[in-house]
Amino acid sequence: MEWPDQLFDCSEKRKAVMELNAILNLLADGEFHSGAELGEVLGVSRTAVWKHLQKLEPLGLPLTSVKGKGYCIEGGLELLEANRITDAMNSAARGLIGELDIQSVTDSTNEQALAKGRSGYICLAEQQTAGKGRRGRQWVSPFGKNIYLSATWGFEGGVAALEGLSLAVGVAIVTALERCGLGGVQLKWPNDVLWQQRKLAGILLEMSGDVDGYCQVVVGIGLNVSMPAQAGGAIDQAWVDVESIAREQGHAPVSRNQLVSMMLSELLPMLQNFQQQGFAAYRERWESLDAYRDRPVVLSTASNRVSGLALGVSETGALRVSVEGREQLFNGGEVSLRREGSS
Ligand code: BTN
Repeated sequence: MEWPDQLFDCSEKRKAVMELNAILNLLADGEFHSGAELGEVLGVSRTAVWKHLQKLEPLGLPLTSVKGKGYCIEGGLELLEANRITDAMNSAARGLIGELDIQSVTDSTNEQALAKGRSGYICLAEQQTAGKGRRGRQWVSPFGKNIYLSATWGFEGGVAALEGLSLAVGVAIVTALERCGLGGVQLKWPNDVLWQQRKLAGILLEMSGDVDGYCQVVVGIGLNVSMPAQAGGAIDQAWVDVESIAREQGHAPVSRNQLVSMMLSELLPMLQNFQQQGFAAYRERWESLDAYRDRPVVLSTASNRVSGLALGVSETGALRVSVEGREQLFNGGEVSLRREGSS
């Protein structure tokens, strides 16, 4: 795993990164490990172990220390592992990965992917310090609990060829979640993934390159997997995580590595197909997952608020709304359900 430079003295960084990762791997089992044991396994002093453990606290990891027993991360931790992710992928999707970069702490996986700009580059992080949501919002990104994934893909034909892409990404995510055993996951235009009207995942597409020619798209996905209550308190809308859905549906907890495998297995072939097929190939499936279909909605744009009945989406992914009996198409804006009795 990669760690940010400022955590380490540069000359020592490589060694320190290996030690910190080894400590995390040992503590990931949720059991107690004494300072002596950790030091012995790593071949470092107890003081060095203690210094590393200090770095875990600011990450929000619930480190417990009990005299005579040692240290443990309550509830354990499943770290992301490249081999576990790629081994569970089908070979066609695996072949579409250019680079699988798993970072420990980063500003934003989308920022990393934008900087790399290479088709097939996948960035995952255990934590984001500046996770970006849509409309300038922050994406709450605590360490080791959720999934923060960005994939870069190159497209010919400029922005026009990308119409509906974020909706197709939503379809890929729902399919992946279904393959992990979760039912009832729906989509809200343009690109929210919901369960029982609560937000489970968000999608943020960012572009660079030529608006009329070849462009690179960064597909950023944030999936709430096991959101700690404290971090969840900072989210300003109704949310849900995979863990609570699985519990409610009587499933065992779903592994983060498995979720990433399934998401990449759906996402990468979709990105490859999208250039040829466009959104038309995903429209029917999107509509079958539409959380707001035939429901009264309010669409808020920068300059306007429109009330109507949601009719689904067009072939290019625009939202169809019946306003006073006439169908209108919308390419941007925020949709919410209209409450009974409001106009
Ligand atoms: C939304 O507001 O619904 C979009 C949220 C997108 C969050 C993801 S997390 C991975 C990637 N990196 C970011 O900084 N944002 C996206």
